[in-house]
Amino acid sequence: MAVRDRQGMRILEFDLSTELNHGICVSNLAYDVGQELKLSQEECYQLAIAGMLHDIGKLRLTGYINGDEQDPLLIEELKYVRMHSTLGYEELKEQGYSQFVLDSVLYHHENYDGSGYPTNLAGEEIPIGARVLRVCDVFCALTSDRPYRKAFETETAIELMIEEVKNFDMKVFIAFQRAVHK
Ligand SMILES: [Fe+2]
Repeated sequence: MAVRDRQGMRILEFDLSTELNHGICVSNLAYDVGQELKLSQEECYQLAIAGMLHDIGKLRLTGYINGDEQDPLLIEELKYVRMHSTLGYEELKEQGYSQFVLDSVLYHHENYDGSGYPTNLAGEEIPIGARVLRVCDVFCALTSDRPYRKAFETETAIELMIEEVKNFDMKVFIAFQRAVHK
């Protein structure tokens, strides 16, 4: 099941095995990046948890495309997609996760230059866990097969990310490159 934009491009997918594999990839990589950043062991564990759970809010969005909401979704698809980080935060808050995990999930689509969502945080305003997930999320997506394209090689993925480097904390991006090349 997928939400498509007007060009037919998939912008949100609900294939459970894809989501789980993506969560595992982000979780492992985020832990390694945390280690490279010399975060505390506890924060590295929390990053691994947040990495696994960061897109959990997408599950709440399936309601919008299962029912009779197809047409409104086409009109407001982007608004709904952008709700997933807030929905995930609200879901996990009820279940006793740490503030580190909650902040990482809530802000994992914030960009370093302030162009992300949900609240246009910029730079160091974005919690460190979310800055790590932002990088790992993009890399894991690019290096995985998708129904509409094959996975990019590691070096190609990094080149593509360099073109969008304004989105990332450079300190985190450098730590990520060290982690990937190990
Ligand atoms: Fe996400």
